[in-house]
Amino acid sequence: MAFPKTRLRRMRATETHRRMVRETTVAIDDLIYPLFVTHGRNIRREINSMPGCFQLSVDLVTAEAKEISVLGIPAVILFGIPAHKDETGTEAYSANGVVQQAIKAIKDSVPELLVITDVCLCEYMSHGHCGVVREGRILNDPTIELLAREAVSHAKAGADIIAPSDMMDGRVTAIRGGLDKEGFEHIPILSYAAKYASGLYGPFRDAAESTPQSGDRRSYQMDPANAREALREVSLDIEEGADMVMVKPAISYLDIICKIKERWDIPVAAYSVSGEYAMVKAAGRLGWIDESRVMMELLTSIKRAGADLILTYFAKEAAILLRGKEKR
Ligand code: PBG
Ligand code: ZN
Repeated sequence: MAFPKTRLRRMRATETHRRMVRETTVAIDDLIYPLFVTHGRNIRREINSMPGCFQLSVDLVTAEAKEISVLGIPAVILFGIPAHKDETGTEAYSANGVVQQAIKAIKDSVPELLVITDVCLCEYMSHGHCGVVREGRILNDPTIELLAREAVSHAKAGADIIAPSDMMDGRVTAIRGGLDKEGFEHIPILSYAAKYASGLYGPFRDAAESTPQSGDRRSYQMDPANAREALREVSLDIEEGADMVMVKPAISYLDIICKIKERWDIPVAAYSVSGEYAMVKAAGRLGWIDESRVMMELLTSIKRAGADLILTYFAKEAAILLRGKEKR
């Protein structure tokens, strides 16, 4: 039926009309907040390129976790800034590592908040790559053994969900095997299945102090030009035992989220990365865009594409805004 019988504007007349036919909503339950933990005491260092985000020492992480939980956000994902970096990423799998300490502290003080841990080596390696480097090559198979050790040490510290972000082949198999052997068969894996070699990770690398000393990550992270390959990555990770899969970054990769959602029933997470956050914050500060409006528009588009979960540095701001709406 066409115009003049059909007028799509009729149901756009007021906010109440629009609320009734809204197809997508962002819920606080969908959000995951990334945290950066560092050694020392009473440290709260704002990240230059990520206003409102901080490197926090373990003692301050618990107060932050409490605040996040009170807002209704169900989970955090932890990244560590180690005291010492070396060629084997020792602190990544040390029982006393900064992430392991943070996991324990959060689970002791805010047990209802789920702790997801990013499993990767780049923050802990002197060269800043996500794997073991020998003669300029990033070696796959020795790396996945270390990743399994790291995952087990996180689980021993009390991690609820393990999220490998390295993009090595076979790491889900290695991590699943490692966890199961140590009695952690109940711990889910959220795999960064389609992680692209993106320029949007710049601010994160300042935050986590994990910029590669030489070269780049293109020999393991995906080429931004490829979509079908992302489906192969996802398919393999599901076969290897991933419980949930992730697409990263989010806003430039909504087609990938959509395709995954069409093909599989597995929960899909999207990581709206540091560069996405920084762009919105920068333009907002310059007065060039309405920051909180754009924030909600981007989060809504990520959900509309098919994401069930969104990892975002906006999680707290979005939760505050969504709570305000609920009360009205
Ligand atoms: C580490 C890792 C990165 C991010 C999450 N885990 C950075 C990278 O691959 O260099 C990026 C997150 C962000 O930009 O917000 N493998
Ligand atoms: Zn890495």
